[in-house]
Amino acid sequence: MGKEVDISKVVRQHLETEQFFTGFALRGKARTLESQDREDKMVVAGKAAELEKIAEEVRQCCKCDLGSSRTNAVPGEGNPDARIMFVGEAPGADEDAQGRPFVGRAGQLLDKIINACGLKRSDVFIGNILKCRPPENRDPRADEIISCLPYLQRQIEIIDPEIIVALGAHAAKTLLNSTKSIGQLRGQFHEYYTGIGRPPVKLMATYHTAYLLRNYSQENRRKVWEDMKKVLAELDLPVPK
Ligand code: URA
Repeated sequence: MGKEVDISKVVRQHLETEQFFTGFALRGKARTLESQDREDKMVVAGKAAELEKIAEEVRQCCKCDLGSSRTNAVPGEGNPDARIMFVGEAPGADEDAQGRPFVGRAGQLLDKIINACGLKRSDVFIGNILKCRPPENRDPRADEIISCLPYLQRQIEIIDPEIIVALGAHAAKTLLNSTKSIGQLRGQFHEYYTGIGRPPVKLMATYHTAYLLRNYSQENRRKVWEDMKKVLAELDLPVPK
């Protein structure tokens, strides 16, 4: 990270120092709920600031050709402290026009799925493998993924979600470094590694909502719903019938 300030680290160090001296003064006394709440808020604010720094880098990025064909880069958005992070393939026309992820038809279906899980869009974080729209919505190219992936990797490290939901083959295969099909990968938890010595993040692969829209069968909808129910159960969240 070079000379850049790691805001999370600074906040963590500040809290650790504060805890050390508070613990010294109030030996044996539990921290109050208010002080815990204040600390949690500081950590989330630190994460939000780091994510915004990445978003700004993404908006300025010209590492690949998509930097010159996009209208807007789409860094991703949502809860900096999300327990669930959804990862799609790349922005489409609507996302390119607005600079926000999953706002077109596929996004509306994703919103419905999130709501059916008893959650709000603002509870989760939504991002993509590529931050800029490939012309004519063609598949991401390997060189584009190589240029862009570090942004997503950094976002995942900062948010530190409990579960990543990879939407579609491109997201699942890229994050798992796998050549298996989405049909083979979906429906079970995999492990996504953020780095040596760090515990893996659970990853559920499922069909992309754009694929669901094109193949809107009961069978496909049931499969996605089964996948999402596994995610909710893993997080000890209520699982709707
Ligand atoms: N499809 C994606 O993969 N990402 C978006 O943001 C929108 C549609």
